[in-house]
Amino acid sequence: MNYFIHTYGCQMNVHDSEKIAGILEGLAYSACDSVEKADIVVFNTCCIRETAEQKIYGHIGALKKLKRNNPNLIAVVCGCMSQQEGVADKIKSSYPYVDIVLGTTNLNLLERAVVDARKKKKYYNVDFLQYSEEDFNQTRTSFPNAWVNINYGCNNFCTYCIVPYVRGRERSRPMSDVLNEVKQLLRDGYKEVTLLGQNVNSYGHDLQEPVTFAMLLHEIGKLEGKFRLRFMTSHPKDLSQDVIDAIAAYPNICDNIHLPVQSGSNEILRKMNRRYTRENYFELIDKIRKSLPHVGITTDIMVGFPGETDDDFEDTLDLVRRVKYSSAFCFVYSRRKGTPAYSMDNQIPYAVKKERITRLLACQNEVTKEISKSMVGNTYEVLVEGANFHYQNTMCGRTESGRLVNFKCDETYIGKFVSVLIERASSATLWGRIVSEEK
Ligand code: 5AD
Ligand code: SF4
Repeated sequence: MNYFIHTYGCQMNVHDSEKIAGILEGLAYSACDSVEKADIVVFNTCCIRETAEQKIYGHIGALKKLKRNNPNLIAVVCGCMSQQEGVADKIKSSYPYVDIVLGTTNLNLLERAVVDARKKKKYYNVDFLQYSEEDFNQTRTSFPNAWVNINYGCNNFCTYCIVPYVRGRERSRPMSDVLNEVKQLLRDGYKEVTLLGQNVNSYGHDLQEPVTFAMLLHEIGKLEGKFRLRFMTSHPKDLSQDVIDAIAAYPNICDNIHLPVQSGSNEILRKMNRRYTRENYFELIDKIRKSLPHVGITTDIMVGFPGETDDDFEDTLDLVRRVKYSSAFCFVYSRRKGTPAYSMDNQIPYAVKKERITRLLACQNEVTKEISKSMVGNTYEVLVEGANFHYQNTMCGRTESGRLVNFKCDETYIGKFVSVLIERASSATLWGRIVSEEK
């Protein structure tokens, strides 16, 4: 019996899919490479923007025909979209061939739900439940990288964002659990660990034990052996000097910070409930660059938040030019039901949003190009991560700062650290050749 998982959205979902795969393999299913070959299809969904949601409904709709041809096919919808108010009911009425709907905190019910579905019993549960979110055998799919959750949920309630409603309040994992998982991964040969949380900097605030994110970084930084540690996502209001110091103190902790700014306008930041100003943000960037001169900083930015004027948008462009992000994920604001921004006045027309996102992308593209050009001729340590399938015998990997580099070698190099001389750059993409490798 085979399973196929459609994963939408962020790394959190990518990692949840590894847990789902582990549960299904425990039930004797094997991974397959197409929906047509599957006995169970899982949609691990995202609802951060409307476009994601529409795409997913389209894909769930397409199952109807498959299900007609194979009535034993089990269809599962889980993840953030199913946790939204009213969605489980909508699926029940409009997509009755879906067998299982589970919310973001209910993955532990998947095994039981599949057993029911095999007996043709539907299983819907989107109640927020308490469970140990790590009691799963995980089927990791991203060697030599491994994802490790450190906290779940979010307490920040940025006014545009649906995440706190679908992922619940912040819950940190005990530090010993995180450390044990990281140590096991290193023993298993993983070379890079990425700590995951909506806001990693508030790690530990909800725990009885007096631990902080900086303390966790110190504990992992001290571990023996050569590996890389990354983490995401940091909230600018919570990224403290002790975290910056911890990154600086350990060679294994990458000089790479994802620091979503969202907007460069103080008025928009206030309306977004981000709780920092552009001046605070610039100060933080200065502090980071002072301690970590080779840092790669990336960000998320949104255009078209309600009330965003031309001047507000110009402030965003100005910030992008000044901060010099190595890359930026740029989004058009999407109205999410249930969030405060949904009912704000002055929603921005689509044509204006479109024009702004085009200009923002062009602006960041210029910055990325500049940085890429300055890297040509230098040699960087790169962890070989996998094949670039567009080219023969070409692998890719990242520099410590997080930049993706392509170079010739074969798959036996995956998981090795190599030194790559950058020979040319086409905007976001770097090309180089291996000049030395670890023994
Ligand atoms: N519309 C557009 N982008 C959004 N994001 C979060 N909510 C929305 C929304 N309603 C973006 C933010 C966040 C990233 C993960 O997604 O930039 O940092
Ligand atoms: Fe959403 Fe803000 Fe929480 Fe990030 S910090 S998940 S943008 S509410």
